Amino acid sequence: MHRREGYPAIWPEAPEDWVAPEREIAAWVALAANGRLLGHVGLHRVAPGHAGWAEWCAAADCPPERLGELARLFVSPAARHTGLGTLLLETATADARRRGLTAVLTVGGDNRAAILFYAHRGWRPVGRLDTAAPPLLFYVGPPGPAPPPRRGSRIVPSAPALHLTDPA
Ligand SMILES: CC(C)(COP(=O)(O)OP(=O)(O)OC[C@H]1O[C@@H](n2cnc3c(N)ncnc32)[C@H](O)[C@@H]1OP(=O)(O)O)[C@@H](O)C(=O)NCCC(=O)NCCS
Repeated sequence: MHRREGYPAIWPEAPEDWVAPEREIAAWVALAANGRLLGHVGLHRVAPGHAGWAEWCAAADCPPERLGELARLFVSPAARHTGLGTLLLETATADARRRGLTAVLTVGGDNRAAILFYAHRGWRPVGRLDTAAPPLLFYVGPPGPAPPPRRGSRIVPSAPALHLTDPA
């Protein structure tokens, strides 16, 4: 994914720490029936000073302790466009809400597919950091329950061969 699509933009020195940093609150993986990993999303704490924290706090009108950052969302290229990314996004967003956290996230300004993906799901841009390379765009999640699929959408909430496992 990194080589083909530039995600993550900079390959981490310690990939395990990147996927599951200390500030992780929860994480979910999507597994095929044969156990193969198809996708992942994490929910992370936000500390003051973290890129985007001031923009998120201003937009959500809350302190950083009340933010939950969705991060490390990715789906294996072969499993895309089946609704899995949406399912992971909604699972983590709903969990953040249950914890009383406002869901936020960061996306690289050059990640056009992800920018459209979030925009179609009611996420709104609230700020950007242009000095980063690529620039970083900061988003806040939709306030209520996830919006219903758009008319004509082909989103499949869950496919029979897939299931979500919460390792926590
Ligand atoms: C962004 C990403 C997670 C989306 O994952 P995904 O599994 O393809 O997401 P979905 O299948 O839920 O939705 C993708 C599109 O496929 C469409 N789709 C969903 N189910 C479908 C189906 N059964 N048939 C055809 N199309 C379908 C959706 O409508 C959606 O298009 P839309 O945004 O215009 O509505 C994935 O592209 C990815 O891993 N990208 C690389 C990593 C990355 O950039 N992560 C984000 C970092 S911020």
